[in-house]
Order: sequence, then C-alpha cells, then structure tokens
Amino acid sequence: MSAYADSTALAEAALIMERCNDLAGLSSHPEKLERLHLSPEHRAANDVVATWMEEAGLSTWQDPAGNQCGRMEGREPGLPALLLGSHIDTVPDAGRYDGMLGVLLAIQTVSRIRASGIALPFALEVVAFSDEEGTRFGTALLGSRALAGTWNPDWWNLTDRDGITLAEAFQDFGLDPARLPGAFRRPENLVGYLEAHIEQGPYLEDADRRLAVVTSIAGARRFTLVMTGHAGHAGGTPYNRRRDALLGASELVIEVERISILHSVIGTVGRLQAFPGGVNVIPGRVEFSLDLRAEFDVDRDECLRLIFEAAENIAARRNLTCDATEIYRADATECDPLLQRAIAAGIQSTGDTEPLAMWSRAGHDGMAVADLTRIAMLFIRCRGGVSHHPDEHVKRSDVAAALDAFEAAVLAVAVTESGTVIV
Ligand code: GLV
Ligand code: MN
Ligand code: MN
Repeated sequence: MSAYADSTALAEAALIMERCNDLAGLSSHPEKLERLHLSPEHRAANDVVATWMEEAGLSTWQDPAGNQCGRMEGREPGLPALLLGSHIDTVPDAGRYDGMLGVLLAIQTVSRIRASGIALPFALEVVAFSDEEGTRFGTALLGSRALAGTWNPDWWNLTDRDGITLAEAFQDFGLDPARLPGAFRRPENLVGYLEAHIEQGPYLEDADRRLAVVTSIAGARRFTLVMTGHAGHAGGTPYNRRRDALLGASELVIEVERISILHSVIGTVGRLQAFPGGVNVIPGRVEFSLDLRAEFDVDRDECLRLIFEAAENIAARRNLTCDATEIYRADATECDPLLQRAIAAGIQSTGDTEPLAMWSRAGHDGMAVADLTRIAMLFIRCRGGVSHHPDEHVKRSDVAAALDAFEAAVLAVAVTESGTVIV
C-alpha cells in the first residue's frame, strides 16, 4: 500500500511523534524508557499531557486514580461523553508508542474537531490512563478499572518491588485512597470508548495494510508460580538426592510452549528467578510468571488445565512442589458492532475500501472500560510487529492515516448518535 500523503495530516503526525519522543524522555532510567504507575515520571507525564490537552481546547483534571483527563463540551454543556484514550505507563525498557500514541492521536483529533467548529451531539473526553501494563504492582489495568468502577479493595495491599503498597504509592503521588470512588464513571454519562493503538504484531505489515478495525481483545490470565525443592551443595549432592527447583521450572517452561502451540493459545514465561542464587548452590526455590492469552476464554482455560497437570507431573517426578497464584484475569472482550462500523468507516475515509478486521492478541484499557460502556479500537501498523521493546516504530504516514481515520470514526459515531449528517 503506497504511503499516505495528505500534507496537513503528515504535519500533525510529525507533531504527535515528536510528543511521543518528549514522553519517552520522562523515564526512571537515563538510557531506557520505564515509566511506572504513580512514579515521579508519571507525575511529569500527566503534567505535560494536561498542557497538550489544554492547547487542544480541553478542560483538564486528574481523576482520583491518577488518570489524566480532558473534556470538550458538545453542542450543549453536560452531554454524555465519547471517551477517547489509551495509557501512558510503560513496560520495562519500553517502546515509545505503546499507549502514548493513542493518547496523542486522541488529543489531536479533539484539536481538529474543535478547529472545524463542528458541534457534536456528545462531549469528547480524552483519558490518559495511569496504569495499563501492571509493571509496578503486577495487576494490570488499574487506571481503567478505577474509571470503570470495578476496583477490588484487596488491591490496596499490592506491593511493588521495594515493598511499597499501592495505598502508599497513591499517597506519595498526592492521591487519597479514600477518594478513589470519585474516579468511577456512570454508564448513562457515556456514549462509548474509542482507542487507537499500535498493533503490536506483524499481521498488518504482512497484509500490506496501514490500519485495521479490532473485533475483540484476547482474554488473558497471569500467574506467579513457585517451584520448591531443596537447596544444597552443588559439588557434594549426588544427582539421585537432588531436588533442583530450577530443573523442574525449566521443564515446565518448555511444556508451556508445547501445550500452548497445540491449543492455539499464546503462553509466555517472562520472568524467572532462582533462589538462593549462588553459582555453587542447587536452586531450592524458583519463582516464575505465566501469561496465557487466547481469542476464546475456553481455549485459554483448557490450556491452563493442561499446564497445571504437567506441573503436577513434573513436580511429582522430581520430588518438588509447585504452587500457583493468579495475579490478573481479564476475559475476552468483544468490540461493539456499531462502533466497529464507525472505525471501519474511518479507515475507508483514508482510501482503504475494505478495512482489515482482526482480534487483538495484546491487552488494552478497553477490556476494563467495556464493563462500563461499549468500546472499539483502531489498530496501526508497527514495524516488524515489534512492541514492548525500544525498537518499536511507526511510519509518520501511517500515523497521518490513523489520525484521519480516527477523526472520521468520531464523526461517524456522531452521525449514528444524532441520526443525521453533522454540519
Ligand atoms: C499489554 O500490553 C499486554 O497485552 O500485555
Ligand atoms: Mn503494552
Ligand atoms: Mn498498550
């Protein structure tokens, strides 16, 4: 597909990408991007995003969950809002577009609609969610779950790697945990939620397409697994007396891949730590993670059952024990058919007459927001499908096309909401 060449959109895309670069500078590490939920860098990111929102004509506030919000009224004040947004927290050693691009596209879309003078039959609100990745506290979607009113009070006791609880982190950020319910939104005040996001996979690039409409978001479950054996001397302990937890965990990691592939599920062990961690000590305990996702929850759950069965067998054979604690669960989320049609109309407005439709393998804030209001998503091609890595890259011309498509999608929602053409 040839490069997108609308010159106004290309200039705006350049501004959006420059802002992604600015946000990438707000990191806890000088050489790599890591911006954790409720960190000083998060504070700085909220402040600069608020400035950009105000320049676009939004009135701004930070909600009691640390989400940075902005609102532009529709044709009369106080109308229900169409939410546009994504997240501004990152994974460790992150790319600069995952989440941030969606927030900045949303702000630019509002700026355009304001400049055009169109009076929408709803308000527009942009939300920069405070936590989607779950990097700091292990549990993801904390910002969007607060907004959706699906907050679990047990989460206040979650701790980060320094032992700081979520409740303490709220206070350090200047937020009062007792005020959290003020972040909960009511469905009758909302029209829906649209999110633009890089694809984080190679399917668009392989199909030579810039944009896609998302049909559903994969359901995911995450666990902390602990394999326990017995530590001992690496020289003195004969093989037939060893209870090596790392060998048990390693076998299970291989089984996760084998079983997941067999069942068309995506399984990943992304973190693994052996204790006590001496070069001359047999590992007595291994902690590791498991992330399982699938288009359909039943496939994911069957795969999980088989992985747990394999864990039991491996542990029994090696005289170990294996325990699992679920730390995150989100079931598959359908995108709303009418909003999908608006996204497809937006993509068509960029000259792609038959928009590609695909399910999202990655998790998104929309999964949490869907408990509150209908959702839909626009996907943008990223180079090589690479994401959660500093090499994450998007073409400026793809961002320009995404901006035109996203604005046209908002206007398409306005047409269906008002039952008439907007002038
Ligand atoms: C979020 O990026 C996820 O899918 O892990
Ligand atoms: Mn991500
Ligand atoms: Mn993301």
